[in-house]
Amino acid sequence: MIALEKATKPLKGDIFVPGDKSISHRSIMFGAISKGTTEVTGFLESADCLSTIDCFKKLGVEIEHTVRPTHGVPTITVHGKGLHGLKKPDSTLYTGNSGTTTRLMSGILAAQPFDSMITGDMSIEKRPMARIMKPLTSMGAEVVSVMGNGCAPLAFTGGKTLRGINYHSPVASAQIKSCIMLAGLYAEGDSVVYEPALSRNHTEIMLASFGADIHNEVARDGSAVAILHPGMPLVGRKVNVPGDISSAAYFIVAALMVPGSEILIRNVGINKTRAGILNVLDQMGADITLLNVDESSEPKADILIKYSELHGNENNQFIISGKEIPTMIDELPIVAVLAATGNFDTIIKDAAELKVKESNRIDTVVEGLRSMGCDIEATDDGMIIHGGKPLKGADINCHSDHRIAMSFAIASLAATGTTRILDDECVGISYPTFFKDLQGLL
Ligand code: S3P
Repeated sequence: MIALEKATKPLKGDIFVPGDKSISHRSIMFGAISKGTTEVTGFLESADCLSTIDCFKKLGVEIEHTVRPTHGVPTITVHGKGLHGLKKPDSTLYTGNSGTTTRLMSGILAAQPFDSMITGDMSIEKRPMARIMKPLTSMGAEVVSVMGNGCAPLAFTGGKTLRGINYHSPVASAQIKSCIMLAGLYAEGDSVVYEPALSRNHTEIMLASFGADIHNEVARDGSAVAILHPGMPLVGRKVNVPGDISSAAYFIVAALMVPGSEILIRNVGINKTRAGILNVLDQMGADITLLNVDESSEPKADILIKYSELHGNENNQFIISGKEIPTMIDELPIVAVLAATGNFDTIIKDAAELKVKESNRIDTVVEGLRSMGCDIEATDDGMIIHGGKPLKGADINCHSDHRIAMSFAIASLAATGTTRILDDECVGISYPTFFKDLQGLL
């Protein structure tokens, strides 16, 4: 439990946030199935990404953690086994709380010559896995949900020959797309995934940089397409992980909420498929400037945020919907917190995916903000926040969801009295030093 009080002075600081979680996972996975070594700097050493490392160690991959004495930057070195060099694990692969580890690794496990089993914590054992089992089965894989409930534990039968697939995903999900692309590396023929809107494309960018023939297109009907032609050798390389915009989002919102604040967050990934929050905040009138923009394949920038009075549109409303949603899916809880402090209504729709995250984030956000005095309603695919009612401190049950814990820690800065985050240790899933970094800005 951690107790937090309303901010009494502006937030100031010049900080770095830890490495991007999605890119960190992928650097280990793709390094493991490539030939040669992959050296990763900026790797996020959080519980989720460490689960990925553990799983690949169990599959026989040597992964080292070194701190270079010269400049003190930790490097993770993955000694790749190539596509066909993984070994049968001695026990069930345990992914902790990590949906990305579970779903992406499933694409790799489905194609191995050996049997394997994968599962995670109580939250993972409730999250939907039929969404990956269905396409993997169509590709020729044999995967069963051990409890027969479409969730992990998942058991894979080895030695199956996979075929490429044309898959129309009902939801924009990088985990589904990436799972199929990874299985597709082992399949006969191309794999093509259509999604209603482009989800984060780190897999496409990083796999291409390792040598895979993979790219994105836009279909005639506007849907997003990822296309993989298998057969190209994957070769390990250096990966420099930028700061995670999903982690930066908490401090961006904090600075916008507390009068007089000014924060510079350095080296943050601003890939368009992730940076939807910046567009939304810009439309709300936030004073945010991107400095030192580096337009490499994974673009990054320093983000300067100054406190701003935000506004809705001419109807005093703000709507977040459609193709914007996948570009800020993990930031919706913190955006809801910000919306609660604005003098306008915010409608979040087309975001039913929030229900199947680490917690049901429609319910956990609505429950938490309501207990703080916000006028908020849950809808089938999002929520409506009637902003402007003063927030008061409350006891927040995060349901072990790291993004809920961090969102409500930031809400406390605008709330009178004391806010207690009951299960605060879950921030270690994606941002172990979150409370220390927040303290440094206060
Ligand atoms: C992720 C994809 C998203 C996101 C998750 C990380 C990834 O999930 O919410 O935190 O790294 O591919 P979905 O694919 O379920 O949208």
